[in-house]
Amino acid sequence: MIFQSIQGTKVPALGFGTWKLNGLPCEEAVQEAIDIGYRHIDTAAMYGNEEYVGNGIQLSGIARNELFVTSKVWHTHLSKEKLRSSAEDSLRKLNIGYLDLLLIHWPNPDVPLEESIGAMLELQQEGKIRHIGVSNFSTTLLQKALQFTAIFCNQVEYHPYLSQKPLLDLCQQQGILLTAYAPVAHGEVMHDPVLQEIGKKYGKSPIQVTLRWLLHQPFVAAIPKAGSNTHRKNNFDIFDFTLKEEEMQAIFKLNRNSRMVNPSWAHEW
Ligand SMILES: NC(=O)c1ccc[n+]([C@@H]2O[C@H](COP(=O)([O-])OP(=O)(O)OC[C@H]3O[C@@H](n4cnc5c(N)ncnc54)[C@H](OP(=O)(O)O)[C@@H]3O)[C@@H](O)[C@H]2O)c1
Repeated sequence: MIFQSIQGTKVPALGFGTWKLNGLPCEEAVQEAIDIGYRHIDTAAMYGNEEYVGNGIQLSGIARNELFVTSKVWHTHLSKEKLRSSAEDSLRKLNIGYLDLLLIHWPNPDVPLEESIGAMLELQQEGKIRHIGVSNFSTTLLQKALQFTAIFCNQVEYHPYLSQKPLLDLCQQQGILLTAYAPVAHGEVMHDPVLQEIGKKYGKSPIQVTLRWLLHQPFVAAIPKAGSNTHRKNNFDIFDFTLKEEEMQAIFKLNRNSRMVNPSWAHEW
């Protein structure tokens, strides 16, 4: 495993995403992911699966302090009272004592950021959450959030087809983790001739090359989701090769500013 050292905390750079996993398959997926070696799990109140993620964690038998668990508060729940109640509900469902990281899932211009961050700071002081972060924040919004507290992470869409250069530059300057969601562009990278060609040299798939490319970048973590256990194993099998600088650059050139997640409530990127 590769770790990113963020504000004194070691974060496993490869995590497991759970969006669209639910019920027993979600429980099994989380348990199996932990068996494979994943130690960083991503969920959200909005995914409606925290109870199953929590069951998967219990079933794995892993010690709590070996895991890094993230959850998120939905953008309709950012007022002081709603944020607290959402986070406490997440904790009850996950049943893991504390969250390593709580994120504002999407910004909401109708609720002052200071109010949401104030509520998160209270939860942090009470030991319910270890770190405070955001998701889907632009550089401008991230800079605004930094006026109120230390931000641990900004979770955003990031893969070879969507550059995040200005945001990553800011995260690297400020010591903030950039967690890449949709890191394999929902599987689309599989068909890419450049990634296929690079993968051939190492006996790796375009998806494995993509994950390795992300993890070579300082301050970046990636949280691929895989319902299939074969995919979960393949995605974890990326620590026995490294990419050359020219291969890294060839992958950066694949950028076409293509966003897979752009809902109606997203702000100006
Ligand atoms: N903060 C946010 O707003 C936000 C938004 C989106 C996602 N996320 C988080 O990021 C995680 C990952 O993003 P995502 O789920 O949207 O997209 P993703 O991880 O890029 O793609 C998931 C898709 O790729 C397939 N896949 C994964 N590994 C594969 C492999 N080795 N070979 C072939 N196909 C493979 C999966 O198939 P199978 O399932 O069939 O294995 C699934 O269809 C989410 O689960 C969630 O935790 C956060």
